[in-house]
Amino acid sequence: MRTTVGIVGAGPAGLLLARLLHNAGIDSVVLESRDRAYVEHRQRAGILEQGTVDVLRAAGAGERMDRVGLRHDGIELRFARRRHRVDFPALTGGRSVMVYAQTEVCKDLIALQLEEGGPLLFETEALAVEDAGTDRPRVRFRRGGPEGVEEVLECEYVVGCDGFWGVSRKAIPAELTRVFERTYPFGWLGILADVPPSHDELVYARHDRGFALLSMRSQSVSRLYLQVPEGTDAETWGDDEIWDELERRFETDDDWKLERGPITQKSVTPMRSYVHEPMRHGRLFLAGDAAHIVPPTGAKGLNLAVGDVVTFARALTHQRQTGSSDLLDGYSETCLRRVWQAERFSYDMTTLLHPVPDATPFEARLQLARLERIASSRAAETDLAEGYTGFPFG
Ligand code: FAD
Ligand code: DHB
Repeated sequence: MRTTVGIVGAGPAGLLLARLLHNAGIDSVVLESRDRAYVEHRQRAGILEQGTVDVLRAAGAGERMDRVGLRHDGIELRFARRRHRVDFPALTGGRSVMVYAQTEVCKDLIALQLEEGGPLLFETEALAVEDAGTDRPRVRFRRGGPEGVEEVLECEYVVGCDGFWGVSRKAIPAELTRVFERTYPFGWLGILADVPPSHDELVYARHDRGFALLSMRSQSVSRLYLQVPEGTDAETWGDDEIWDELERRFETDDDWKLERGPITQKSVTPMRSYVHEPMRHGRLFLAGDAAHIVPPTGAKGLNLAVGDVVTFARALTHQRQTGSSDLLDGYSETCLRRVWQAERFSYDMTTLLHPVPDATPFEARLQLARLERIASSRAAETDLAEGYTGFPFG
């Protein structure tokens, strides 16, 4: 098999890249180890930055998002039993975010790719990226499980969009690589519940017992998260216990009330910051979680993946149109500038809102002082609003 761009992984990064290349008249083949249903139902991110919304629309993938997605003009910060709303458009010159789940973005892009685009092969596992440093990189892959036969995809470029656990990153020689990493001593217990959201915008709550987040998937489905100790097994939390704990952490001095409903899914997400430098080696480019991870506070992961593939698609289009590989050569530097801003933002949001297990009273007071500063200074609040609605692409 032969193609211009071999794409490893059909998460948001790989699927959007295939769409952007198709629109630019560049052919690609996408290899995805899991089946279609798994990719379409894996519960993950929920918030799209303004820039991501604009990219999906321009790519012709925004029709359903514009119909059923929920535009949000702000979030609420909750601390010391008080509520403070951050008004995004007022602070950022009109920017907002969209509540539209990663599952739905993937469904839309898969449908478009199968209908109009190049091959998208499910249950096809990349085993290794080879000859990345040459003009003819290859992906060795296998279809149909461990019994399947090995095949080779010959490419002009390979883009590794295979997430944190993928194989692409391993093709960059260790001696050329630097990794920057931090883990956190807590995770998020996430639930989906069949109950209308108790607030019309997201609520980020800091409480001495731990962080809590109220989000949503639609007008009738709530998504909620609780900070839990690292390594927690979701099954050790009973449904009533989860609702009781959420209620405590969201408590306010007014008459706000948390509505309960049947919990349909629960799982624990670990928290990690991770950056792999560089994001390019020869003709292999890394995009999305394959190159970097942020803790979920502030919802940057999916949006960063979008920024990377937009940068790659622009650079390759530029090369095709002008013959200049300047933008491809600058891919890693261009992406990493935005990645590090998102790393900083996600770290700030995480440390602002999560009490660490052995926090001293001094650290607890500092968190409250940081929140107080955001609630009372337009400059501090603008910094949060700009970060949340997103940093520019490219
Ligand atoms: P992925 O979505 O991980 O896609 C990679 C794809 O590659 C997968 O489909 C995988 O099956 C495939 N693959 C892997 N190895 C191979 C191989 N060898 N061959 C072929 N295919 C392969 N972000 C938020 O903003 N908010 C959240 O609440 C949030 N929750 C998350 C919860 C979890 C459990 C995880 C893991 C991430 C979460 N994220 C969240 C982050 C966000 O979902 C990711 O940043 C986003 O999915 C990145 O997209 P991606 O396409 O780079 O990678
Ligand atoms: C969601 C996840 C996040 O990490 C976040 O900051 C906001 C919302 C969500 O899954 O809805």
